[in-house]
Amino acid sequence: MADRHVKLPDLAECKREGRKLVMLTCYDALFARLLESAGVDLLLVGDSLNQVLGGRPSTLSATLDQMIYHAASVRRGAAHTPVIVDLPFLSYQVSIEEAVRNAGRVLADTDCHAVKLEGGTAMAPTIRALVDRGIPVIGHLGFTPQSINLLGPRVQGRDSATAARLREDAAALEAAGACAVVLELVPKGLAAEISGMLAIPTIGIGAGNGCDGQVLVLHDMLGLNDEFSPRFLKRYAELAEVVRQAVTQYATEVRSGAYPDDIHSFD
Ligand code: KIV
Repeated sequence: MADRHVKLPDLAECKREGRKLVMLTCYDALFARLLESAGVDLLLVGDSLNQVLGGRPSTLSATLDQMIYHAASVRRGAAHTPVIVDLPFLSYQVSIEEAVRNAGRVLADTDCHAVKLEGGTAMAPTIRALVDRGIPVIGHLGFTPQSINLLGPRVQGRDSATAARLREDAAALEAAGACAVVLELVPKGLAAEISGMLAIPTIGIGAGNGCDGQVLVLHDMLGLNDEFSPRFLKRYAELAEVVRQAVTQYATEVRSGAYPDDIHSFD
């Protein structure tokens, strides 16, 4: 692909070319600018923002207005990168009509490019309705955080019945017009098998390296959230410690009068 920026309609082509997709969550304009300049392919405004930023125990409390505020901020920071926005809990499950209205509002109010929603075969008619109305959709299978109360935060698809259901769900999402599928907490063999079945890319999180791309929660992979260390997470920095050290030094200097010195003061 000549253009280094991935475009949403070209995701299947990226897969055919063997180009692995790099996705990270992003909740604000500042990080969006940094991630775009680092060459991230896809930005996800995840409903995880209510856990990561809001300190809530699950994603269930995220609202449409919150998602729109953060998605618009991310879009302002990243002009060239496709931005995908999670549809929050109960914004798309009640009826197809509500799903279309809410997903449409997300794209209209934020200038973002696609929505992501959780669920398998049961969500296929909703995905079809969104895609038919011009709203690109990324699916999300495996551990689906909005169903935490049903599933618990555990690997999905270890038993043959669940694995068979995941295969069927993935095929149903593709048939309904989804342009990619996130696979979360799925055994790597099963995730690779599902990836091999589909023409659209799979994007894994805790699903091994047989997926067509990977996504991580930015704050986790930067080591800002140092209380969270599941097996699949690789920390590429230890920013919590950097922040603690910087703030400790600032506090010491304010208390001693060393800051502000003459260099940081006006005559
Ligand atoms: O909300 C989120 O951050 C997500 C990722 C974990 C894929 O859905």
